[in-house]
Amino acid sequence: MADHHHLLLLSFFFASFLCHGVFDVQASHHVSSFHHVSKISYPTHQPYRTGYHFQPAKHWINAPMLYKGVYHLFYQYNPKGAKWGNIVWAHSTSTDMINWSPRGYGVYPSQRSDINGTWSGSATFLHDGVPAILYTGIDPDQNQVQNMVVPENPLDPYLNKWVKKHENPLMEPTQQNRINASSFRDPTTAWLGPDSTWRLVVGSKHNEKGMAILYRSKDFINWMEADRPLHSTEGTGMWECPDFYPVLDVSGGSEVGLDTSVLGPNVKHVLKVSLDDTKHDHYTIGKYDPFADVYKPDHDGLADQDLGLRYDYGKYYASKTFFDWGKNRRILLGWVNESSPVDDDVAKGWAGVHTIPRKIWLDKSGKQLVQWPIEEVEKLRVRGVNVPCQELKSGSVHEVTGVTAEQADVEISFGKLDLSKAEKLDPSWTDPQALCTRRGASVRGALGPFGLLALGSKCMQEHTAVFFRVFKGHDDKPVVLMCSDQSKSSRNNENDKASYGAFVDVNPAHENLSLRTLIDHSIVESFGAHGKSVITARVYPLLAVDGAAHLYAFNNGTQSVKVSRLSAWSMKKAQIG
Ligand SMILES: *[C@@H]1O[C@H](CO)[C@@H](O)[C@H](O)[C@H]1NC(C)=O
Ligand SMILES: *[C@@H]1O[C@H](CO)[C@@H](O)[C@H](O)[C@H]1NC(C)=O
Ligand SMILES: *[C@@H]1O[C@H](CO)[C@@H](O)[C@H](O)[C@H]1NC(C)=O
Ligand SMILES: *[C@@H]1O[C@H](CO)[C@@H](O)[C@H](O)[C@H]1NC(C)=O
Ligand SMILES: *[C@@H]1O[C@H](CO)[C@@H](O)[C@H](O)[C@H]1NC(C)=O
Repeated sequence: MADHHHLLLLSFFFASFLCHGVFDVQASHHVSSFHHVSKISYPTHQPYRTGYHFQPAKHWINAPMLYKGVYHLFYQYNPKGAKWGNIVWAHSTSTDMINWSPRGYGVYPSQRSDINGTWSGSATFLHDGVPAILYTGIDPDQNQVQNMVVPENPLDPYLNKWVKKHENPLMEPTQQNRINASSFRDPTTAWLGPDSTWRLVVGSKHNEKGMAILYRSKDFINWMEADRPLHSTEGTGMWECPDFYPVLDVSGGSEVGLDTSVLGPNVKHVLKVSLDDTKHDHYTIGKYDPFADVYKPDHDGLADQDLGLRYDYGKYYASKTFFDWGKNRRILLGWVNESSPVDDDVAKGWAGVHTIPRKIWLDKSGKQLVQWPIEEVEKLRVRGVNVPCQELKSGSVHEVTGVTAEQADVEISFGKLDLSKAEKLDPSWTDPQALCTRRGASVRGALGPFGLLALGSKCMQEHTAVFFRVFKGHDDKPVVLMCSDQSKSSRNNENDKASYGAFVDVNPAHENLSLRTLIDHSIVESFGAHGKSVITARVYPLLAVDGAAHLYAFNNGTQSVKVSRLSAWSMKKAQIG
């Protein structure tokens, strides 16, 4: 494991995401004019602002990027409003990935190759341990090209200033390479091959074939496009924010993360792409051959679009991972868009939050990844309550008192279930989101719905229901469905209240079925079966706000279920933004 990354107390994460934007500030005054426009004032009553989920003081964000030692987060940001546009790289730093301090802009338009936009990219540690950032720039012809910045002073732990390479752009669409100039963006973190050559991929498409275009370089300045992409899939459309990294594949499973360049017999690779057409982050697990320089998924998940594997089956996009060598873990960060009308975003003055950073690793089955909120978030827990084991009878609702229900962390677990009582799963019910939409929390079943009602109002007119249903599938094998039902989340009907759903690969006849939910005013982030399936939702209650929210456990199945554990904590405010 040649690990040049260990030379410096830093490591990177980075994400990206983009669309089409107009940059309308004069070059020489970018920064000052951005600071100037940031002084617009917004409403002081902010019921939906998060208490411990990252968001900037105001305005629109989308893609995060992180860097460690000090951890660094760079994200796509519009200094001029709560809508997409004018994108620059905002920058925050942290020592625990929970409390953040804002810094100056990392990258903003200033040269020909990025004068019309500084979009997403990634950071890589070079041989000397100093990071370099590659990012997508928009040139005056509206071409997407790849550029590089390096720290002005690598000794500055806060990396406050970045300088652009005069060689920019380093990668660009040409007549010869036939790369689509409006579909060529989001370079990944580079990895070093056995031939000491750097490699990275850039997201693209040709017609409807999504692809990860591969580039190689010896010196990180001169990049050559490879003869074929690292991977491509017909019918998937534009691949944004690709992310390619190794995971440890050992029997019994391991939560240990790997540096991006690690290869070896106990290593599998993950390719994640953000599908522009569906706004979902999909991934496959497979084998990377560093000699042929191709990646082959074990199962062609992406071909199946929305039925393939996803990091998060709710509202979630443009995520990125980085290797945190200090704690030997790989960390995933994602962006969570609003589900409210753009006018509401503009009125409240901000749009978009980030999920709590998640540790991510290969499940012991080898078939999927597992995610869990980083342990640092537990430092925010105060005033915990433990509810003794009890039976939740058919149709019952149990209020969990003693916690601040608007800003909470809840773990609930259900005892083993008797599957003989489960309903049969119709073989045509293959789409979990459609199933959760048809069978919301108010549709009674046999085993389920049971779970939590988050952000509930006093008489439960409003609530976000996160729950399980258990069916008998083919050969009577258990099928566990996890849903996040937003249909009653608010009396305001302007919001997108789509239900989300995921199947969970767990056998509830053999093990207790767990659910953890992080609730923070307008975000409900839920982890089923210790992080095997994750669903994030945005909700905007009108009643369950300003201290009036309640938290409940419920069972609306005809069969009773046993709560084997129920622990909840109020969460302190973190320094966000
Ligand atoms: C590109 O940037 C220049 C300089 O900031 C600006 O004058 C022009 O309007 C921009 N064009 C587009 C299409 O965004
Ligand atoms: C290139 O990308 C643009 C923007 O998505 C798209 O409209 C166009 O069809 C693409 N061309 C090809 C050949 O894929
Ligand atoms: C953001 O949310 C809106 C409303 O739910 C949705 O239409 C849009 O596709 C989302 N965009 C992304 C990038 O997730
Ligand atoms: C599973 O639930 C049962 C109660 O139904 C409880 O006694 C047991 O301790 C739980 N097991 C684990 C591993 O939490
Ligand atoms: C439970 O089901 C009943 C009957 O359908 C319904 O009236 C009630 O609202 C449901 N509870 C929840 C939390 O959805």
